Amino acid sequence: MISKTTIDNVFETSRVEEVIGDFVQLKKSGSNLKGLSPFTDERTPSFMVSPVKQIWKDFSSGKGGNVVAFLMEHEHFTYPEAIKYLAKKYGIEIEETEQSDEQKEHANERESMYLVSEYANKFFQESLLETDEGRAIGLSYFKERGFTMDTIKKFDLGYSPDNWDAFTNKALEDGYQLEYLEKTGLSIVKEDKKFDRFKGRVMFPIHSMSGRVLGFGGRILSNTKKAAKYLNSPESDIYHKSKVLYGIYYAKQAIAREDNCYLVEGYTDVIQFNQSGIENTVSSSGTALTSEQIRLINRLTKNITVLFDGDAAGTRASLRGIDLILEQGMNVRVCTFPEGEDPDSFARANSEEELREFLQENSRDFISYKASLLMEEAKSDPVKKAELIRDMVNSISKIPDNIQREVYLQECSRIMDISENVLYASLAQIQNKDKRTSKPQNKNMEVVREETAPKTKVDHLYILERNIIKILVLYGNKEEDFEDLLLKQNEETGELILEPEVQTSKVFEKIFLDLQEDEIAFSNKDFRQLYTLIINKLNSTEEFAVGNIINDLEASQAQEVTDILMQEEQYELHSWDRHDIPVKQKEQTIKQFVSQTILNLRRHLIDCKLNDLLENIRVAETEEERTDIKNEVVGFNKLRTLLSERLGRVM
Ligand code: CTP
Ligand code: MN
Repeated sequence: MISKTTIDNVFETSRVEEVIGDFVQLKKSGSNLKGLSPFTDERTPSFMVSPVKQIWKDFSSGKGGNVVAFLMEHEHFTYPEAIKYLAKKYGIEIEETEQSDEQKEHANERESMYLVSEYANKFFQESLLETDEGRAIGLSYFKERGFTMDTIKKFDLGYSPDNWDAFTNKALEDGYQLEYLEKTGLSIVKEDKKFDRFKGRVMFPIHSMSGRVLGFGGRILSNTKKAAKYLNSPESDIYHKSKVLYGIYYAKQAIAREDNCYLVEGYTDVIQFNQSGIENTVSSSGTALTSEQIRLINRLTKNITVLFDGDAAGTRASLRGIDLILEQGMNVRVCTFPEGEDPDSFARANSEEELREFLQENSRDFISYKASLLMEEAKSDPVKKAELIRDMVNSISKIPDNIQREVYLQECSRIMDISENVLYASLAQIQNKDKRTSKPQNKNMEVVREETAPKTKVDHLYILERNIIKILVLYGNKEEDFEDLLLKQNEETGELILEPEVQTSKVFEKIFLDLQEDEIAFSNKDFRQLYTLIINKLNSTEEFAVGNIINDLEASQAQEVTDILMQEEQYELHSWDRHDIPVKQKEQTIKQFVSQTILNLRRHLIDCKLNDLLENIRVAETEEERTDIKNEVVGFNKLRTLLSERLGRVM
């Protein structure tokens, strides 16, 4: 562990503007610095850095925090990685603290399980590289598979001796408790006997996003036995199969950098791809893909390319899993390998260049892939064809973005030679059927009216409304000192001025009153309902627990709330207080966040109003009408300037 002194030292020395300046081009803007958001594809800068407060804020994605939070968001570093990066940048020596026996004892259960797993990981590696048996059996197997020493070391591959209890005994001898050996599934305890689960297998440790060992996969070496080829760690407090992707730790940077993620079937595919220089590769290892796994990827990129084996190509089951990816608004591409080849064998048999070229040339958009694939099947069978249409439209209905859905419907209509109208009707039918469980549908249509490419356009209104809900969920009951700037008229000049005034109130009250004052109603139905629900709860109960309301929500609403909480968990990872970072920094930003969001929302609504008015001027019939509207525009513009001014001050 890094010592507290080192961490303090790092925080004292680091300058947020210098660190971010290495990644984002920043320009001075008042007392702040401004730049293009590194998290979204935007053309007007909404990314702010405050050298005074030593924080940053990205208005287009809602992200923000201190210098460490930036590195964690942008570079996908873990907390210690971020501290180490800063220490290196500023030439600070890192002091590590040893864990005492007492500390070891006090570490909680999960921590003990992590420790046991880490220990096992070391044990298996040593047994692979430093014992005769390991070298003769395990290492030679990996080499035969074509793995280089660098690859074997990078992935911490190992070997579990072919002996009933070699690992378990050594671990007990080294002071690890049987309880945790059993809880992690590394050892199997039957009455008074103890066995190694992975006896005689080569080992693939499974890492979390931040690089901790959560569990293992073990491959058997003899193919005569009846035992399963691959054996995995059982579910445990630290290993949840459905939430883990094999290879994500090694892939995360490359996924963000390449803005694409390759999804393959298993351990060997991931490793072989890495060895071939394609690092943005993960697998769900044996199980069907889950939404939680997709969410892990979604944090890094919007683009997934699913790679199918030559044989398994386009089986109905695998196609269905892909609908889950579409549901999260991601762009899915599909690439099929030649008959008899899987990503592993193909990567091994070809050079990096050939592999890249193959992926490039054979990746196809999922929807058109599915349509042509099933068309082949249905050909001249009208019953099958009808079924196929429903199947296709069902996939398309999962896409949350209206415009994208529309594009796909047109594409399908072309491929399947069916009129668009039929497809639209079918889509409407499906949407009606699962209205209760569907995602928010009108995310984009209302706001995005501009001439520019709609796909890259950030939906500000959606983000702002969501931020309000987020604030309510996370900080609704908190009391804060809000510095309100009250709009007053100078009695002599008649000029409008802003005067600061501090008022203490609960966050939810502040929001409620501010929004009510402006008669702001949410445009998104889910948010509108959530807003009313949460405000009522906060108003009527002292103790407000989000967990209690989730079960009562419609699926799409529960999804939003969960996402909010998940995101917050990312912040928890930063562990502000646990890592002795002054909590103050985060607290400070709550009140700023509240004020910023409300002001931004108001400004956004004014912008919409202004747009409407300008359109009205264009179509106005009389000069009189035009003048009236123009006056209104002037009024709104004044208000807009004031809001902008206030926004500048909140930062
Ligand atoms: N896999 C698994 N469980 C199985 C079979 C396969 O988890 N019972 C996963 C593994 O992660 C493996 C991938 O699917 O890396 C590919 O499967 P397969 O080709 O059967 O495994 P290999 O180890 O490559 O076996 P072979 O040498 O026979 O190709
Ligand atoms: Mn294989």
